[in-house]
Amino acid sequence: MKKYKIAVIGASGMVGRELLDLFEKRKFPVGDIEMFNSGKKPSRVKFRGKTYRCRKPDLKTLKRAEMVFFVSTNETARKYAPALSKAGVWCIDDSSEFRMDKNTPLVIPEINSALINRENRLIAGPNCTLTPLAVGCFGVHKKYGIEEVRLSTYQAVSGAGRTAIEQMFEELGYYLGKKRGRLKNRAFRHPIAFNLFPQVGDFGRDGVSGEEKKVELELKKIWNAPKIKISVTAVRVPVVRVHSLSAWIKTRKPWTFRELEKTITATGGVKYFAKPEDYSTPLNTQKTFEVTVSRLRKTGIKNEFQVWLCGDNLYKGAALNSVQIAEEIVKRRKA
Ligand SMILES: NC(=O)c1ccc[n+]([C@@H]2O[C@H](COP(=O)([O-])OP(=O)(O)OC[C@H]3O[C@@H](n4cnc5c(N)ncnc54)[C@H](OP(=O)(O)O)[C@@H]3O)[C@@H](O)[C@H]2O)c1
Repeated sequence: MKKYKIAVIGASGMVGRELLDLFEKRKFPVGDIEMFNSGKKPSRVKFRGKTYRCRKPDLKTLKRAEMVFFVSTNETARKYAPALSKAGVWCIDDSSEFRMDKNTPLVIPEINSALINRENRLIAGPNCTLTPLAVGCFGVHKKYGIEEVRLSTYQAVSGAGRTAIEQMFEELGYYLGKKRGRLKNRAFRHPIAFNLFPQVGDFGRDGVSGEEKKVELELKKIWNAPKIKISVTAVRVPVVRVHSLSAWIKTRKPWTFRELEKTITATGGVKYFAKPEDYSTPLNTQKTFEVTVSRLRKTGIKNEFQVWLCGDNLYKGAALNSVQIAEEIVKRRKA
C-alpha cells in the first residue's frame, strides 16, 4: 500500500496534535512525516511512539511532501499553500485564508467531496462552528430546501486555540484559590471561566462579529445555496471542546415530523438522538466522528423546526475533516 510523505504545519497546536492522533486512529497511510511550528520556541510532538522536534517551515523542505496539512495561521497558509499546490503538493488548509476564495473548494466530505480534483490541489476546510449545522441538516436541505436559518452558538474555548485554553485554566486556578497574583487575559477581552460573552472574533461596522459572518458566508458556499437567509449570534462559553448550536430552520417544502427524523437519521456523518431526554452535550459528543443532533421539534411556524446540534470543533470542525479530505484524495488515486 502506498504511503504518503506528510508535513504538518502547526503540529504543536491544538488542532495539530489531534491531527496526529487521528492519523493513528484512522490508520492513515503516513510514510515520512515532518513537523513544523513557528520556530519561536522549542516544541516536541509524539507520533506513533516517536518524538519529533518541530521546526520553522521553509518552501524547499515543504516541497518534499506529497500532502501538507496547514493547522497554523492564515499568514502561513498564504505564504506557502499557493506555491506548493502549483508545484503538485496537496495542501489541506484549516485556516480561513482561502475558504471564500472562488477558486478554492471549501470541502466537508459528507457534502461535497466531488469538488476534490487533481487540477486544484489547495483545499480549504470550513469554520468549526458551522460544521454541525452543515452536516446535521444537509439531508434536510437536499430534500426539503432550507430557506432560512436562525442560530445561537455555544462555542468551546479550544476553538480559539491553545492560549485561550491556557487563559481559562489560569482563571479557574485563580477562582479555586490555587493561584495568586494578577490574571492576564491573553486570548479574550473578558474572563471566560464562570462567564460567557456574545463575541467571537472582531465586530464589523454593522455590529456583526467575524464568526457570525463566517458562518453565514461559508454555509452558503458549502451548500451552494446563496439565497438562504442566515442570522447568527455567536457566543463563547466556558466549555473545553465541542461547539453546540441552537437552530431554528425553515424549509420551502413541507414535511412530517417522522419524515424529518428519517431524513436526519439517514444523513451521513450524523448521530441522531430521538428521545428528548437523551440530548447531546459537549461531553457526550467530544472525540466522536459524527455531529450529534437532538431536541428536534416543530415550532408554531409553517415548515419550521428547532434543533440542538453539537460537533467537536477539534475533530469534525478541523482535524477529522482534514483527514477525511486526505482519505478522499487517497481513494481517488486508487480509483
Ligand atoms: N481550534 C479549533 O477548534 C479550530 C477549528 C477549525 C479551524 N481552526 C484553525 O486551525 C488553525 C490552528 O488552530 P489551533 O486552534 O490549533 O491553534 P493553536 O493551538 O494556537 O496552534 C497554532 C499552531 O500554529 C503554529 N504556528 C504559529 N505561527 C506559525 C508560523 N508562522 N509558522 C508555522 N507555524 C506557526 C504554532 O506553533 P508554536 O507552537 O510555535 O506557537 C502552533 O503549532 C488555525 O488556522 C485555526 O483558525 C481551528
